[in-house]
Amino acid sequence: MEAASGLAAEKLLTAPDRPCAALADQFDLGAILEFSGAVPIWESAVRTGRRPAQSIPQNQKLFHGTTDAATHYFNGIRKLALRNAPQLFEALSARRVQFGRVLDLGAGTGDYAAAMIDRGIARDVLCVDQQYVIDLPARQRRSSLRWQAADLRRLSLPSEEPFDAVWISNVLHHYSARTDAEILRRCARNLASDGSLLIHEYLLDGAGTQALAAGVLGLHFALTTGGGRCYSLQELLDLCARATPFNSIEFSLTLPISTVVILRRG
Ligand SMILES: C[S@@+](CC[C@H](N)C(=O)[O-])C[C@H]1O[C@@H](n2cnc3c(N)ncnc32)[C@H](O)[C@@H]1O
Repeated sequence: MEAASGLAAEKLLTAPDRPCAALADQFDLGAILEFSGAVPIWESAVRTGRRPAQSIPQNQKLFHGTTDAATHYFNGIRKLALRNAPQLFEALSARRVQFGRVLDLGAGTGDYAAAMIDRGIARDVLCVDQQYVIDLPARQRRSSLRWQAADLRRLSLPSEEPFDAVWISNVLHHYSARTDAEILRRCARNLASDGSLLIHEYLLDGAGTQALAAGVLGLHFALTTGGGRCYSLQELLDLCARATPFNSIEFSLTLPISTVVILRRG
């Protein structure tokens, strides 16, 4: 790829004797920028030294509708999910973690949700995403997996039947802290009083080379979304605490370039 992003990725990750060379296998930045339609944005930013006034995809609006771009984007997202899910759910199985009802916010094509059910981590999952994502042919179908179209920023589910866990994976970095606080506040309304919140994000102070990945991706989200960014763990915990009181971290897992933390409400 001739794009500046490809060059940056190559320089950052694969140059010999660089500490981050080990990341190259896991962190295909060029592919991430390509499938998210961000290459022209990075190129323009490199050329002009500025964030484009009309950044696309603004919170993925570019992908509205069952367009080729949407299919391409979600194929990329699915690849990441299929790579992470076995390690994550094996670790949870080993700890005998089991949730009854799970709410998956911004579920994408539902690959994490399907894996949770297949692994016995969840009995049934309600996946929430935008209608065009639910319409994608690639989205997962299972009798124990239900789908609901909604905007997470205005989510309003009946609160009488709270969920045992909420899984929110790679969503928060698309929005500003203020919007994320609102998303988390709404998600807390649907969580049982002893329910668990599972967050999957790229953490700026993640273990080892993760912090580098989060730093580069944080720049990517700053360029391509309206206010999105990556957080440090403490920032993430503070955001969650604004939504509802949580006990300390119950579990955390370091994946190749991202982290899953589980907080128990209480
Ligand atoms: C990066 S993808 C992550 C998908 C999946 N959770 C995963 O980790 O593989 C972000 C997902 O959040 C969804 N999303 C973002 N903003 C949303 C909103 N305001 N309402 C509903 N879904 C949203 C997108 O449509 C997309 O499916």
